[in-house]
Amino acid sequence: ELATTFLEQPLDNPLMNAAGVWCTLAAQLDALVESSAGAAVTKSCTLSRRDGNPEPRYRALPLGSINSMGLPNEGHVYYLDYAACHDYERKPLFVSVSGLSLDDNLTIVAALREAVLPAFLELNLSCPNVEGKPQPGYDFEAMDQFLAEVATAYRRPFGVKLPPYFDFVHFDNAAEILNRYDNLAFITCINSIGNGLVIDTESESTVIRPKDGFGGLGGDYVLPTALANVNAFHRRCPGKTIIGCGGVSTGEHVFQHLLAGATLVQVGTALHEEGPSIFDRLQKELRELMAKKGYTRIEDFRGRLKTL
Ligand code: DHB
Repeated sequence: ELATTFLEQPLDNPLMNAAGVWCTLAAQLDALVESSAGAAVTKSCTLSRRDGNPEPRYRALPLGSINSMGLPNEGHVYYLDYAACHDYERKPLFVSVSGLSLDDNLTIVAALREAVLPAFLELNLSCPNVEGKPQPGYDFEAMDQFLAEVATAYRRPFGVKLPPYFDFVHFDNAAEILNRYDNLAFITCINSIGNGLVIDTESESTVIRPKDGFGGLGGDYVLPTALANVNAFHRRCPGKTIIGCGGVSTGEHVFQHLLAGATLVQVGTALHEEGPSIFDRLQKELRELMAKKGYTRIEDFRGRLKTL
C-alpha cells in the first residue's frame, strides 16, 4: 500500500515528475495525469512564452544527464489554463513558477492566487540555465527578499524548489530563512547540480550547445547530493514537508528518499529516458522492497533513517 497524503491531500502513491520533464505541453501533462504517478507538476513558467536555449540542450549519459534548456515554456497563462481544467479529484497538480525577476514572479503568483485553484505552487529558486540570471537560491539575501514578498502576496501554502547545497553553513542559513515563513509549507530538494561540464573524448568537444557546454546534472551523478539535501532540510525544518528530487531511477532510490524524510519523490532524468510508464515500474520495485523488509505502509519507515 503506497497511499500517502501531502498537505492533507490524499495521493495514490508518492511519485511524480520533476518540474521540466514531460510537462511543457498539455499533451505531455495529460500523459502524466493518465499515468500511475501520484501527482504531476507543470514546466517552470515565466511571464511570457520562451523558446529556450539553442539545441542540442539536453544529453543523456551512462550515469545521468546534462541540460541547459533555458526555460522553454508556453508562458504562465498556458499553465494556469491547464490548471483550471485539471481534475483535482484524480491527482494533485503542482504549478512550477520561475519568473525572471521578483516582479514577474509576483505577477504570476497573483494570477495563480486569483484563479483560486487547489493547485500547489512550487516556486523555483534554482534555475541554473538562464545566462545573466543568478539563482536566488544561492543568494540568501535575495532569497529572503523573494520569499518575504511572495509569501505575503500569495498567502496560501506554497513551496520552494531549492538548488543543492554542499556546506552545513548553507544548510543552516537556508533553513533558518525558510523557517521564517509559516505559509512556506513544502521544500523540494534538489534541482540539478548546476553548471557541470561533460566532455566527449572522441570528438574532444562539449555535448550541449548553450553556455559553452556547461549545464545542470541529473541522474546517478546527483543521488547522494539529493539525499543529503532532503535529510538536511528534513532535520532542520520539522514543520515543513519535504519533496525529494534527484537521481531516482529505481524503487530502491525512492525508498532512500523516503527514508531520508521525503513525503513525495520526483523523477527527472529517468522519466525523460523511460517515459511515464516508469511510474509503474518504480511502484512495483518499491512495493517489492517494502514487502521484503516487512513494511506495509510508507509511514512505517519515512524519515526513519538510522545513523551510526
Ligand atoms: C530550467 C532548468 C532548471 O533546472 C530549472 O529549475 C528551470 C528551468 C531550464 O533550463 O529550462
